[in-house]
Amino acid sequence: MSEQSPLWPARLHHIRIDSGDPGTMTAFYRRGFGYSEDEIGEGVTLLSGGARQLLIGRGKSGTLPFMGFALDDPAQLDAYRAFLQTKGFNLQPSPSPLFGDEAFALDDPDGHAVVFGLPMEPDEDYDRLPGRLQHAVVATKHLDKMAGFYIDGLGFNVSDWVEEEDGSPTAFFVRSDAEHHSFAAFRADGQRFDHHAYEVTCWDDIRDWADHFAAIEVPIWWGPGRHGPGNNLFFMVEDPDGNKVELSAELEHMHRHMPHRTWKHEERTLNLWGNAWMRT
Ligand SMILES: [Fe+2]
Repeated sequence: MSEQSPLWPARLHHIRIDSGDPGTMTAFYRRGFGYSEDEIGEGVTLLSGGARQLLIGRGKSGTLPFMGFALDDPAQLDAYRAFLQTKGFNLQPSPSPLFGDEAFALDDPDGHAVVFGLPMEPDEDYDRLPGRLQHAVVATKHLDKMAGFYIDGLGFNVSDWVEEEDGSPTAFFVRSDAEHHSFAAFRADGQRFDHHAYEVTCWDDIRDWADHFAAIEVPIWWGPGRHGPGNNLFFMVEDPDGNKVELSAELEHMHRHMPHRTWKHEERTLNLWGNAWMRT
């Protein structure tokens, strides 16, 4: 992030996932993640609970129409809007029903809208199984363009690169506050929504979430393990559309001006404890 970018601090507040079978997806997320459900019109369902919000829409499965990043206050949002306008970005009205009128959006090179705004409702205090929506990740055929957009354009801070031996990048992780990443992208043969993650309070929560999924007979898809970039403990489950969902603990914190690191493109990078999900 450049010194001047007013993006810091911003956090991922909600995402919209589309599905050809939104009813099945909604039922999965209610049961799996303790969400309560609200029909908000135009075929969109709002799922909310604790410090997590998700919109499920009718559309092409495996797509992420938008991500909503919450800034701290109106002054920061104004400053950030001016920062993006100075860079020549054409800002669009926000497609999100969860931010106020002052929110705005712009499309990344793969067509995901990135929305910046101020939440209209505070997070709920009570959460039986704590898990705050924390990051979203996409797979892309255009990693260089995506990195340019998020780092040089939007002003996210790059935390880690993953590279092949010849230096060609296979993933980048970017942050918008002290948490290691609020967004990341992996190089892949095709474009799709990759996963989203909930940050829990400690390792014991990971156990409790895994026991919860055991009780409802949702098997762990990958993990438990520890990522290299972010150093977080994690496991993943899979939703009915094949999107992965991550439970994460102890995600690394990095101060604003800490330089990025580089990791080798190998299984150990993605899971220090063992085998990995390699996108390429
Ligand atoms: Fe993740």
